[in-house]
Amino acid sequence: MGRVAIVTGGTRGIGEAICHRLKKQGHTVIANYGGNDEKAKAFADETGIAVRKWDVGDHEACLEGCASVEEEFGPVDIVINNAGITRDGTLHKMTFDDWNDVMRVNLGGCFNMAKATFPGMRERKWGRIVNIGSINGQMGQYGQVNYAAAKSGIHGFTKALAQEGAKFGVTVNAIAPGYVDTDMVAAVPDAVLEKIVAKIPVGRLGHAEEIARGVAFLTSDNGAFVTGSTMSINGGQHMY
Ligand code: CAA
Repeated sequence: MGRVAIVTGGTRGIGEAICHRLKKQGHTVIANYGGNDEKAKAFADETGIAVRKWDVGDHEACLEGCASVEEEFGPVDIVINNAGITRDGTLHKMTFDDWNDVMRVNLGGCFNMAKATFPGMRERKWGRIVNIGSINGQMGQYGQVNYAAAKSGIHGFTKALAQEGAKFGVTVNAIAPGYVDTDMVAAVPDAVLEKIVAKIPVGRLGHAEEIARGVAFLTSDNGAFVTGSTMSINGGQHMY
């Protein structure tokens, strides 16, 4: 059955692959994005998927953005909280803004989007929320106290909200991707990335589509008994 799905950070990287996959599953997909208008337009032209711009770190913007999506497309039954940023740096060099921006977008975005959509799912007795965490939220990463804290927070947020949604048919799960061949990972210095890839048992970076397939399962009716879980898709880099 086709449903209305919002994917935050949906026009690039992992989000883009998730949009493609959910569309293939027959859903009406809306790709939220935060900044890159040019890429969003190209994505919309190429895929026919609707794009809507708002900052997921802005509470009011999420409430307004989701309300206008619902008015235009109908009730939102599936939310993929994928939008995320990095501001890497060792703690002694990291600024408060680096900390705050990452917490506001990566973790705050999950809260804001859930506030906008979870009450409706609860009332309709069906919903799927998938939060994109990270291997670095599970095991930490040198130079990422902000990102690791936010992603680790996502895993706690997921387990708490899953308990609230369970009796209303709303599942809430996380996926913890490892290193995937996106622009975000390409920004890691080559010498650092080489050492990271050397520690991935499968011997390569992941592909965005490999994360999207996990989302497809968790959002389907087949995933109804899976809630509060974290699916690690990381090539064996961290077995958790
Ligand atoms: N463990 C221990 N020491 C380390 C280390 C590690 N993992 N990495 C670097 N160091 C050491 C270096 O050897 C160096 O030591 P010396 O001064 O004694 O030689 C010291 O730390 C300084 O390191 P850098 O030169 O790297 O410092 P920098 O300030 O130039 O850069 C950094 C720091 C920005 C954190 C850089 O190391 C970096 O980009 N690291 C990668 C961070 C990362 O993996 N980000 C993931 C982004 S993708 C993502 O987040 C998606 C996802 O979910 C997986």
